[in-house]
Amino acid sequence: MANKAVKGFSKLSKEAKIEWIVNEYLGGDDTSIDLLKSYWNENPDVQKIHDEFIENTITNFYIPFGIAPNFLINDRVYCVPMAIEESSVVAAAAKNASFWMERGGFKSTVISTTKIGHVHFAWYGEFQILKDFIAEIKHKFFEETASITANMKARGGGIVDIEVLDRSDLEPNYYQLQAKFETCDAMGANFINSLLEEFSKILERELEASNLSDQEKKIVIIMCILSNYTPECIVRTEVNCPIDRLSDDPNINNEDFAKKFEQAIHVANIEPYRATTHNKGIFNGIDAVIIATGNDFRAVEACGHTYASRSGQYRSLTNVEIKDGMFKFWIEVPIAVGTVGGLTSLHPMVKFSHQLLGNPDAEGLMKIIAAVGLAQNFGAVRSLVTTGIQKGHMKMHLLNILNQLGANKEECEQIKLYFNDKVVTHSAVVEKFCEMRGIPHKAGVKKHS
Ligand code: MEV
Repeated sequence: MANKAVKGFSKLSKEAKIEWIVNEYLGGDDTSIDLLKSYWNENPDVQKIHDEFIENTITNFYIPFGIAPNFLINDRVYCVPMAIEESSVVAAAAKNASFWMERGGFKSTVISTTKIGHVHFAWYGEFQILKDFIAEIKHKFFEETASITANMKARGGGIVDIEVLDRSDLEPNYYQLQAKFETCDAMGANFINSLLEEFSKILERELEASNLSDQEKKIVIIMCILSNYTPECIVRTEVNCPIDRLSDDPNINNEDFAKKFEQAIHVANIEPYRATTHNKGIFNGIDAVIIATGNDFRAVEACGHTYASRSGQYRSLTNVEIKDGMFKFWIEVPIAVGTVGGLTSLHPMVKFSHQLLGNPDAEGLMKIIAAVGLAQNFGAVRSLVTTGIQKGHMKMHLLNILNQLGANKEECEQIKLYFNDKVVTHSAVVEKFCEMRGIPHKAGVKKHS
C-alpha cells in the first residue's frame, strides 16, 4: 500500500499525530506508540517546554549528557557539560583536560566579538555614486533604528559600523550593505536580522526620495540576513609545556612524539582530506558543549569550516610550534555564542549547564568551548601518532556492541576483562559473546601486541 500524504498535520494533537504516523507508516504497530510515549517527560510542564521548541513534536530524542571535569582554563577549574552521542569523546576530553591541568592548563583569550550581516541588493549605476549616497544617509540607519538598539546599547553593544561593498566583480550590479554589530551576551540573530530589514527599507526609501537619476533610484533588495561567518568573533586557546614533559608514558620518547605530532598538524594544514577529519574531531568537543549550552552548533560549525578555508584552502584549525625545548599547541577559531536569550532561559538542562559552568558571559563561554576543542584535538592526534585511534575508541565502543548484543551485566564484565589485552573489533566481540552463550560463530579474535 502506498504511504499517504497529509494536509493539516500540524493542526493535529500530539496523540493524533502519533496515531496517524503509526497507522499510515508503521502498519498500526502499537509498540511504536509505547516507544514514542516512553520518551515523554513524566512532568507535563517539562514536556510542554520541549514540545514547543519546534513544530510537530511527537516525542523527545535523547542524546547523552556527560561531564568532562578538570578543565583548568585561565586559572579556574571547570566541569564541562557535553551533549554527544559518540563514545570516546567525553573520555578524551576528560583525559586531556587532566593531562593539561598538570601542565598549567589552557590559556584562552577572546580576540574579537564582532558579528556581521548584509543587505544583499542589485543596483544599476556607478559604484562611487552609491558610495557617496550611502555616506550621506548613513546616520539615518543609526538614528531610525534607535528604538531597536536602545537596550543593546545600554549593555554596551549595538551597531558598530555600516558600509557599502561593491560585489559586482562576483555578479554584475551586485552590492551589499554590510553592517557590523556587537551583541554582548546574546547570540543576536533576531537583533541583527531586524536591523538589516530596517536598513533595507531606509535604503529603498532614501533612494526613491533622492535626486539621483531614475536608473540610480532603482534598487532590488535580494535579501537581508546575518552571516554565520564571523571571522571577527574569534577566540584563541593555547597549551604549552616543555617537550620533556609531553608524555606521562615511559614508552614514548618525547622528542619523537613532538616531531610526529608536528608532522600530523602539518599534514592537516596542507591536505584537505586529513584537515576535514582533523577539524571534525575538534568539533566533536566544540559541538558537544555548544549543544549542552543551548547554542546553534550548525552555525558554529559552518563558520569554523569557512574560517578553516580562509587562505583559499581548507586547513587545520589548530597549530603547533616546537621551539627552544617548548611545545606550544593552540587553536584559533570563530565561536559566536550567546549566554542569554534563546534556549538559555527555557531548556532546563541548558540552564543547568550554564549554572555548572558558573554562568559565564558569552566571552567566558567562548573560552571554555575553544579549550574543549583543543583538548579533543590534542587527544585525537596523540592517539593517532602513537597507539592509533582504534585502541581507545573500540574499548569505549565495546559497551555499545555488548548492549546491541543484549549482553547481561555479568557477560559485560567478563567480556570487558577478556578484551583488556586484545584488539576490540565488532566481530571479535560477537565471537566472544557467542562463545560464552554457546552459540556457533566463525570470526577470529586477534591478540593485541
Ligand atoms: C572521530 O570522531 C574523530 C577523529 O577521527 C579525529 C581525528 O582523526 O583527528 C578521531
